[in-house]
Amino acid sequence: MPEIERPPPSRSSPGVRALSWVEGSLVVLDQRQLPGAIVRRTLGHLAEVAEAIRTLTVRGAPTLGVAAAYGMVLGQRADGLGVDEAAGILRGTRPTAHDLFVGIAEVERVWRAGQDTLSAAAAYERRVVEECHAIGEVGAPLVGPGARVLTHCNAGALATVAWGTALAPIRVAFLSGRDPFVWVDETRPLLQGSRLTAWELQQEGIRHAVIADNAAGYFLGRGEVDLVIVGADRITRSGDFANKVGTYEKAVLARENGVPFYVAAPWSTFDETLRRGDEIPVEERSGEEVRNFAGIATAPEGSPVRNPAFDLTPHRFVRGFITPDGVLAPEELEGHLRARTRPLL
Ligand code: MRU
Repeated sequence: MPEIERPPPSRSSPGVRALSWVEGSLVVLDQRQLPGAIVRRTLGHLAEVAEAIRTLTVRGAPTLGVAAAYGMVLGQRADGLGVDEAAGILRGTRPTAHDLFVGIAEVERVWRAGQDTLSAAAAYERRVVEECHAIGEVGAPLVGPGARVLTHCNAGALATVAWGTALAPIRVAFLSGRDPFVWVDETRPLLQGSRLTAWELQQEGIRHAVIADNAAGYFLGRGEVDLVIVGADRITRSGDFANKVGTYEKAVLARENGVPFYVAAPWSTFDETLRRGDEIPVEERSGEEVRNFAGIATAPEGSPVRNPAFDLTPHRFVRGFITPDGVLAPEELEGHLRARTRPLL
């Protein structure tokens, strides 16, 4: 497997970097190619950023927000678009991740005020990375020596530019010498767990095992999971949340087996305007993602398919939200969101 060139992890080296702004373009690591190949793509136009978002070349809620923020910059500087057109194209890419809309709005505000959009996008990127690092420090005490953590999808550095959300506490625990172990759900249909999370963990020497999605209940039932940590794409003020499809059943199984279930997210993932999970728009993707994988048929051609990319988990299954400000119980969330001074959108 190709190795990525970078120094060994330390508190200042938070895993791989999902994207960076280089000389007027957005350079992204092509997440569709991992773990087989490390391919970087240089995106010089807003349409290319929008396409990269739609195709999951870049993915994961916080990374989507940062990519979209830089997409706005390209729309202004390289394409000469108006602010409404640029924001409209990017808003139409993927509906569920709240971060995407926050990233667009941050740059839109500055653009309308006639200020420097590139500085705004760079500041937004820095904030996302800082918040994810803070999530790591806040959540690491939950990961005791040798703790066995189950996670779903990829909520690592690839999904957040650096550090991760669900993986950040695991990284910080690892860097503190607590030797965590991670159960990695493979995450059908696009395998973000086995392709991306396992790759990130392997790069850094963090112990893990990939399991088929439908094996999680077996290991939870045998008492081999100490806690579950997942990321989120959108969290309402009640704490109901959307994350990669398959999260809901893991939450129910965790409750059934008395295993604490945590959700880690930066503030850009919280949508104060919504109260209930069923108000969250859930993306439904092409049936081809289920009917085929890597060119191999996984269902008969022409079989009807439903392919929701996310599911909705009620807040009653959540022990706590690992946020940059601390671990909050679902009932503490709304008050905390109200008390925060920084606007979220
Ligand atoms: O469809 P994806 O791969 O963008 O879905 C990603 C997830 O569901 C992640 O768990 C979520 O965005 C949290 S990332 C920190």
